[in-house]
Amino acid sequence: MTSYPTMFSPCELGPVTAKNRLLMAPMVRNYAAEDGSSTPRYLAHLRAIAEGGVGTLVLEAMYVRKDGRGFPSQLGLQGDHVIEPLRELVEVAHANGALIGPQLYHAGRQTTSAATGDTPVAPSAIPDPLMGEVPRELTGEEIGEIVTAFGAAARRAMEAGCDFVQIHGAHGYLVTQFLSGFTNRREDGYGGDLDHRMRFLLEIVEEVRSAIDGRLPIFVRLSGEEMVPGGLTLDDTVAVAQALERAGVDVLDISAGNYASFNRGYMIAPMARDDGLLVHLAERVKAAVSLPVVTVGKIRDPEMAESILADGRADVVALGRQLLADPDWPRKAEAGEPERINHCIACNQACTGRLFNGEDIWCTVNPACGFEEDFAAPPPARPKRVVVVGGGPGGMQAAVTAAQRGHDVVLCERDDHLGGQLIAAAATPHRPGWEELHRYLEGELRRLPIDVRLGTEVTADVVRELGAEAVIVATGSQQTVPRFDGSGDGRVFTSRDLLEGRAEAVGHVVVAGGGCAGAQTAEHLAVEGHPVTLVEQLSDIATDAPLDDRSLLIGRLRDLDVDVRTETTLMRIDPDSVTLEDPSGTQELACGTVVICLGAEPQSALVDDLEELDVHVLAVGDVVAPRKVTEAIHEAAQAALAL
Ligand SMILES: Cc1cc2nc3c(=O)[nH]c(=O)nc-3n(C[C@H](O)[C@H](O)[C@H](O)COP(=O)(O)OP(=O)(O)OC[C@H]3O[C@@H](n4cnc5c(N)ncnc54)[C@H](O)[C@@H]3O)c2cc1C
Ligand SMILES: Cc1cc2nc3c(=O)[nH]c(=O)nc-3n(C[C@H](O)[C@H](O)[C@H](O)COP(=O)(O)O)c2cc1C
Repeated sequence: MTSYPTMFSPCELGPVTAKNRLLMAPMVRNYAAEDGSSTPRYLAHLRAIAEGGVGTLVLEAMYVRKDGRGFPSQLGLQGDHVIEPLRELVEVAHANGALIGPQLYHAGRQTTSAATGDTPVAPSAIPDPLMGEVPRELTGEEIGEIVTAFGAAARRAMEAGCDFVQIHGAHGYLVTQFLSGFTNRREDGYGGDLDHRMRFLLEIVEEVRSAIDGRLPIFVRLSGEEMVPGGLTLDDTVAVAQALERAGVDVLDISAGNYASFNRGYMIAPMARDDGLLVHLAERVKAAVSLPVVTVGKIRDPEMAESILADGRADVVALGRQLLADPDWPRKAEAGEPERINHCIACNQACTGRLFNGEDIWCTVNPACGFEEDFAAPPPARPKRVVVVGGGPGGMQAAVTAAQRGHDVVLCERDDHLGGQLIAAAATPHRPGWEELHRYLEGELRRLPIDVRLGTEVTADVVRELGAEAVIVATGSQQTVPRFDGSGDGRVFTSRDLLEGRAEAVGHVVVAGGGCAGAQTAEHLAVEGHPVTLVEQLSDIATDAPLDDRSLLIGRLRDLDVDVRTETTLMRIDPDSVTLEDPSGTQELACGTVVICLGAEPQSALVDDLEELDVHVLAVGDVVAPRKVTEAIHEAAQAALAL
C-alpha cells in the first residue's frame, strides 16, 4: 500500500489511461543525431526513466521542420527517416507500461540561424532579446505550410506507435509567438485580438487531428503567464484553454514564461525559487475547463506532489529535472523510500546551462544522466583496492560509484567532516541545494560498503600502507590570496574562512572578487547586517552563474544595498581602510574586514608525490582545475567507471 494513493492511481488522458499521475516533462537533451533521429544514447537514457516508473513520457520539443530547430542535436519529426529510431523509444516506454508521445514544436524566433540554417521566422519581425536575431515575418502561405508540417510530424509520431501528441504552445516558441501580443503585430487574420492570435494554434489542432485521423489524443502545453509586459496573462491563457477544449483537445499542460522572461526564474525555476511555484496557474485553468490539467515547476517532493493531486489542484504532476536527477523517483516514492531520492537541486548548471551553450545536457547530482550506457557496462572481473582522497563532492561521488561497481573502497578526508567546499557553497543564502546534495552523498556513503576515514591526511606513505591498487585524488582547491600593499593583513580572510566559520567579519566589509561565489558571499554578509562593498575588476558580476540565478542574485544584492563596484581593483589594504582603483582614479574606503574571493588554485601536491608509486592515479574535480561541483561529480564518476 503506497503512501501516495492519488499519485499512483490511474489517470484518463482523453481516450488513453496512464498508469499513474506522474508525467515526464519535455526536455531537450541534445543527445539526438544531426538529422533529428534518436540515438543509442537517447534510448539508454529514456530506458532508465521509463524503468523508474513514470506513467507518461512527453518527449522533448521535436522540430516539425528544419527552420524550427532550436538546438543542434535535438530530436526532430521533420522527415520519415526519424520514424524507425523513434519506434525504439516507444517500445521502451511500452515495455514499462508507460504512455509516450512527442512534443511538436517550431522555435520561431527563439533560435539562431546557426541552428536552422537560415534566418529564423516569426509572426512579426521582432527579435527575441535573448537570441538577438531579427526574424523574418512569415507570409500567409508560409504559415499554411508550417501548419501542414505540424500535421505531417504528428502522422510520423503515430506511425512510430506513439500514444498521443503534444503541441508546444508554451515558452515563447512559434505557437506562443502567434498567441501573444508581445510578439504578434500582424494585421492579417492571424493577428489582432486574442481570437485572431489563436487562429494559428487552432489550425494546427485541426490539421494534426486530420493527419492522425483522430486516432490519438492531442495535448497542448501553454504558458499560464508569459511574465513580460504586453504578454499573455493568466486570463488570456484561460480563454485559450477554453477555446482548445471547444476544439476537442484532450489534455492541457500549464507552464510559464518565455525566453524574454527566462531570467526571472519561473520557466525553469532556479535554486532560489520555491518548490511548486507554478501550481496556482494550472489550478486556475483547471477551474475553467473540464479537461485533465498537468502542472509543473520544481515539484521534487512526493508529499508535495501527492497533496497537489489530492487537493484537486491538478490532475497530473510533471517532473522535469527531477527525473534527470533521479529517474527512479516514482519507484522510490511508491516503495515508501522517499528518503533515498536524489533530489534535483535546481542548480541549472548542467542541464539548461549546458543546453544553452549548445552542449549535451548532464545533471550535476546524477553523473549517470546521459551516460547510462557507461554505467550499464559490466563491472570489472576483479575488484580493486581503491583509495579515494578527499571528501568533497568529487571524492564522495568517486567512492560511491567505485563501490557500486564492486570495488573495495577507502575514502580519506583530512578534515573531521565530509563536504569539502559544499559547506561554504551551502552557507550562502538561497543555496539549500548544496546541503541537500551533501546529505544525499553522505547517505549513499553510509549505505554502501565504504570505509570512510575522517581526520586522515593522505600522503604517498598512507597510500602504500592502505595497499591501494588505484587512487582517485579529489583533493580540491584552495582559495588564492594574493599579496597586497599595506599592513592590514590581520583583517583579511577568504570567503571560505568566513563561510566555514573560521573567521568573523567586523563592520563594513569589502569583498574582493565578484564571481558567483564572491557575489554570494557579499549577499551572505549583507543579510547578516554588514554594510558591504563588492569589488570586481571586470565590467559585470557573477558572470559564471546560470542566467536566471544570476539575475535573481543581482536583484537581491540591489535590494540589500550592496555597493557593487565593477571595473574596480583592490590595490592596498591598511588597518582601517582599503585603496581601490577604477577608471576615474584611486580612492580610499574605510572598512573593518576584507574578504578575498579571487579564484582558487589546485591542491595537487599529492598527485606529484604519487608518481613514484606503482599505482593507477586518477585526478578529478578542482584538483585538476578549479571549476564547479558539476565537473567534480562528472569526472569522479567517470574515473570510478574507468577502474
Ligand atoms: C563560496 C563558494 C560557492 C560556490 N558555489 C558553487 C556553485 O554555486 N556551484 C558549483 O558548482 N560550485 C560552486 N563552488 C565550487 C565547488 O564547491 C567546487 O568546485 C567543488 O566543491 C570541487 O569539488 P572537489 O571534490 O573537487 O573539491 P573540494 O570540494 O575542494 O574537496 C576537496 C576535499 O579534499 C580534502 N583534502 C585535501 N587534501 C587532502 C589530503 N591530502 N588528504 C585527505 N583529504 C584531503 C579537503 O579537506 C576537502 O574536503 C563554490 C565554492 C565556494 C567556495
Ligand atoms: C534541459 C531542459 C530542457 C527543456 N526542454 C523543454 C522542451 O523541450 N519543451 C518544453 O516544453 N519544456 C522544456 N523544458 C522545461 C521543462 O519541461 C519544465 O517545464 C521545467 O524544467 C520545469 O519543471 P522542473 O522544475 O520539474 O524541471 C526544459 C527544461 C530543461 C531543464
